[in-house]
Amino acid sequence: MTDSSVRQPLVVPSVLPADFAELGNEVQALCEAGVDRIQWDVMDGVFVPNLTFGPDVIAAARPHSAVEFEAHLMVVTPDELLGRYVDAGCELVIVHAEACTHLHRTLARIRDLGARSGVALNPHTPADIVEHVLGETDLVLVMTVNPGFGGQAYIPAVESKIARLRRMIDASGLPVELEVDGGITAKTIRSASAAGADVFISGSGLYAHPAGKAAAVAELRAAASESASQRKAA
Ligand code: DX5
Repeated sequence: MTDSSVRQPLVVPSVLPADFAELGNEVQALCEAGVDRIQWDVMDGVFVPNLTFGPDVIAAARPHSAVEFEAHLMVVTPDELLGRYVDAGCELVIVHAEACTHLHRTLARIRDLGARSGVALNPHTPADIVEHVLGETDLVLVMTVNPGFGGQAYIPAVESKIARLRRMIDASGLPVELEVDGGITAKTIRSASAAGADVFISGSGLYAHPAGKAAAVAELRAAASESASQRKAA
């Protein structure tokens, strides 16, 4: 059994709310605010009804960041794009289980390319879909909104899936991160952490904080830590 209590919660901003005309400065400001990684929401306009970052945009921002990049590929053809996003400087590449005919092979290929692998699950997708690939993935991302846009409402019904994945990961003894994404604020992060998540994506919740990004990061991390401690003490 791994002891999920040893891992401190990670706060990872989505750059969807950022000023796209200033991405280098925006990324630098996020690093200065103390974030643990930066997530790029890659959307192809087909898998989700929005269109965002190509690899060249991420490559342009790469020199301005002191922290790792993760690419969340919300695309219908992830296998065709994996190498482009690794080459752009993403140390972690996340694909959607719903877009992968051969998920085990795709996750192994991300690692073969030299990056860490991740698999994302839309709200309707059951936890069991990753049961036989936990050895191939470094992260499971549980979507707590239907992906495509920032600023949506957190879906509490997904918490039972988070808890089930926490049990699956701990029972596996594997160091797999359990990440959540969508509607994460200082309030919702508490219940997502209590359910077992340890990595938290926040876009609008972080950017909208009245005291700025550093205060938002500190508040999110403190709330997640407090809630995780309560879970582990129970
Ligand atoms: C999918 C995107 C968003 C984004 C976070 O739509 O992945 O979830 O990262 O958006 P907020 O934190 O604004 O809900």
